[in-house]
Amino acid sequence: MKVITTINELQQELEKHRVLNKKIALVPTMGYLHEGHMTLAKAARQENDLVVMSDFVNPTQFGPNEDFESYPRDLDRDEKIATEVGVDYLFAPTVDEMYPDDGGIRIEAGPASKILCGATRPGHFNGVLQVVSKLFHIVQPTNAYFGQKDAQQLALIQLMVRDYNFPVTICSVPIVREEDGLAKSSRNVFLTDAEREQAPVIQQALQQAKADFLKHHDKEQAIQIAITMIENQTSGHVDYLELRSYPNLQEIHPETNQFLLATAVYFSNVRLIDNILFSNEEIR
Ligand code: PAJ
Repeated sequence: MKVITTINELQQELEKHRVLNKKIALVPTMGYLHEGHMTLAKAARQENDLVVMSDFVNPTQFGPNEDFESYPRDLDRDEKIATEVGVDYLFAPTVDEMYPDDGGIRIEAGPASKILCGATRPGHFNGVLQVVSKLFHIVQPTNAYFGQKDAQQLALIQLMVRDYNFPVTICSVPIVREEDGLAKSSRNVFLTDAEREQAPVIQQALQQAKADFLKHHDKEQAIQIAITMIENQTSGHVDYLELRSYPNLQEIHPETNQFLLATAVYFSNVRLIDNILFSNEEIR
């Protein structure tokens, strides 16, 4: 595996493969790799000739009071993990390499970016779409891999690709969890020991809410059950817990057939997200 830090070098390398018609995969990450990222890379390895993983903590998707500075970073460790899972190129640019000049051009994500995580993280998804579209142009992948862990991000990327005709196929991978059900995240290291023990309640609460909704079709009741469970059984505080249609993230209605039950929970040093995607089939 080769670690590459400049756009030019990466493009020169990829050109050699592109002329041979190789299928190129892109796996965008912010590093501090865990099994969630590894699962994306493994899927990319199986379905493509070449795997490019980006490892870049993107400043434009962090708000002024968010954890950009403290976001965990360990490139040496990432190199070893990426090598193990068969990544060919690990693209780890500096902030200056990705953003040398600010020409003031911005991507404005639509209404689906203002709800759920977007409500407490204004501008977050504009930054995500900015870096993802840059990566798409730099790498020009056939397939790009994203996790359902960040379901709103995945939905918005799918909408951007559709609305702006990006010539890439978006491949999604289910959430990878710890044995006790906590969704794997680079940010889990910020949980205190007590919070780490409580955190699996988030997933249990979502499962309870889903079961209740499938039985009673009462959205508000299902949501309240999950919020109460999280707030009573953890020291966390619920930012949002919502049931929406997927992938449009609209209010549900009787014809909705894909559901996203999503939550974000604040602990003392970290905000965690989790969700369940399910379909109408389970109701019948
Ligand atoms: P990051 O949080 O590093 O996640 C990179 C990719 O790994 C995302 O597609 C995310 O959904 C996926 N992922 C993370 N945890 C996962 C888990 N437990 N199971 C399955 N997939 C998981 O998401 C970002 O970085 C950034 O916003 C990025 C898209 C790279 C743009 O900067």
